[in-house]
Amino acid sequence: MADFDNQLAIVTGAAGSIGAATARRLVDSGAKVVLVDCRAEELARISQELGARTRYHALDVSDMASVDATISTIVAEHGRIDVLCNNAGTAGADYSPIIENDLQGWQRLMSVNLMGTVAFTRYAGAVMARAKQGAIVNTASVAGIRSGAGGNAYSASKAAIINLTQTSACDLGAYNVRVNAVCPGLIRTNMTQRVFDDAAARGKSHKLGSRCELRRPGEPDEIAAAVCFLASSQASFITGQALAVDGGNTASLNMPGMKV
Ligand SMILES: NC(=O)c1ccc[n+]([C@@H]2O[C@H](COP(=O)([O-])OP(=O)(O)OC[C@H]3O[C@@H](n4cnc5c(N)ncnc54)[C@H](O)[C@@H]3O)[C@@H](O)[C@H]2O)c1
Repeated sequence: MADFDNQLAIVTGAAGSIGAATARRLVDSGAKVVLVDCRAEELARISQELGARTRYHALDVSDMASVDATISTIVAEHGRIDVLCNNAGTAGADYSPIIENDLQGWQRLMSVNLMGTVAFTRYAGAVMARAKQGAIVNTASVAGIRSGAGGNAYSASKAAIINLTQTSACDLGAYNVRVNAVCPGLIRTNMTQRVFDDAAARGKSHKLGSRCELRRPGEPDEIAAAVCFLASSQASFITGQALAVDGGNTASLNMPGMKV
């Protein structure tokens, strides 16, 4: 539990379910945590709940100038960045086929999910490289591995994050900075609440997670645990990897009728 003692961690999307669970684990493991999200009130509430070892910055991660300025402020206050969890994301609302997709929606989603991750990696990664140590964990998705777990832009943004994880791990390895990703399957969070509500309304809650080998959806803390493992010294020789945390969802083609 003392693995993050005296370390400074940044968690984006920290007002959300997986981000707050990650921040909680980091605080419980000794880190000081800077919480980032665009929802200022919720961010302040979570910071207060997690206690004195947290700070928070309300910003839109797609605003490159704000990201740059925020990293400078964090370094001025704390003098270091040990861990960066790039977790902020949006699912968007466009589930139409590609020939009907709203292209402005694509650009907005890419600017948050992909460019937000790029910007934090760019500016916090530079601080880590100078210090010759650090760990970055990106929240991708099973949607970045296969089709069928989100809209087209969402899937493409998460596939891009998996590749960014590899390219930045290669760029930063020589500086002793590790970069990994988690690929969550279906997790019960604010983002997916609508899916759970719809299933409950149709009496089909038992179907949720039925395509996953563990036969259930996951919980935010199960993703937070994987993020904290990859960020910790326990994962000191792991970099450039995308770990599916999906109850076995991506382990199987799950072809109906092939098995009883
Ligand atoms: N819930 C799932 O099943 C699932 C599966 C795979 C991946 N993910 C990913 O996990 C991450 C966390 O999502 P969650 O499920 O906890 O949902 P969530 O909605 O609870 O959390 C997402 C957080 O990101 C913040 N955010 C969105 N756009 C932002 C922006 N422009 N600037 C700053 N903050 C912004 C939101 O305010 C929110 O607090 C996301 O990247 C999501 O894509 C979730």
